[in-house]
Amino acid sequence: MVVTVDPEKFALAAVIGWPIMHSRSPLMHNFWMKQLGISGRYLPIAIKPGKVVDALRALPGLGFSGCNVTIPHKMVAKDSVDDVDDAADKMGAISCVVVREDSSLFGTNNDWIGFLRNLEYSLPKFVLKDRYVTVMGAGGAARAVCYGLIKSQVKKITVVNQTLNKSKLLQRLYGDIICVRSWENRNAALEGSSLIVNATSLGMVGMRDHDIPIEAIDQNAVVYDIVYTPSETNLIRRASVNGNPTCTGLGMLLHQGPVAWKHWFGIEPLVTNELYDLVRRNLEAEYGPGKTIV
Ligand code: ATR
Repeated sequence: MVVTVDPEKFALAAVIGWPIMHSRSPLMHNFWMKQLGISGRYLPIAIKPGKVVDALRALPGLGFSGCNVTIPHKMVAKDSVDDVDDAADKMGAISCVVVREDSSLFGTNNDWIGFLRNLEYSLPKFVLKDRYVTVMGAGGAARAVCYGLIKSQVKKITVVNQTLNKSKLLQRLYGDIICVRSWENRNAALEGSSLIVNATSLGMVGMRDHDIPIEAIDQNAVVYDIVYTPSETNLIRRASVNGNPTCTGLGMLLHQGPVAWKHWFGIEPLVTNELYDLVRRNLEAEYGPGKTIV
């Protein structure tokens, strides 16, 4: 791989959020810095709500190539940069800021690309075009997932969410490709789906688990859980035991990284098994292999 990062400059990027110290992004990005022999650092920067504009505007002067943006700043950051792309505009949120030559700030949202690339990488034979998909959840993550699915020309996306109005918002945003079912009918919505995505926080450490009847879904259906704390959720474990192909949230997190690097440094590092295991082990050290409150 040809490294085009300016050797005269200490490469700098960051993730801003509040809180931020739980983020695994520094582990991933600094792994690449070291692997590629780049003199630089990726920093976790805790930015309080209300300070996002100040933080972003300081990036060019401090020599940062850009930053990732995480909870709770994704929407405010979108309104604080100079330009955004179509994905960010549609989602109303950004996950990545790029400092341009003239010091202006460009905002983009890589969440949907990470979602798709992880699927392609984990299950290369799986084709999304013309598929029926069920997405559980209708928050920011679901918005990114649906954007990616629509870009991939799926046939229909059934959205089930605890708060019905949020599903309807998604439908208004993306149109009739989104079909809304009530949370109470979530199990029926799984029928006939080739891909089932958990974009809720259920299954996360400290949250209760999903109660979906894995045994009742099509064995060929891909189960994709975007939760990565723990690195293997009970939903993923149950799906694997049932014989379903699976895709993890950790993979989605990792696959966003190279997209950001391309913007910041002009190169795309690789998501390898070594990197996956490094971050998985680090998550397991903190959260255990699958410790959830059921
Ligand atoms: P994110 O940016 O990660 O998507 P979010 O926008 O807060 O975070 O969305 C969280 C999602 O998890 C929502 O779909 C939320 O459902 P509501 O819209 O009804 O709040 C879902 N969620 C959170 N706790 C839940 C629970 N206990 N049961 C079911 N869904 C839950």
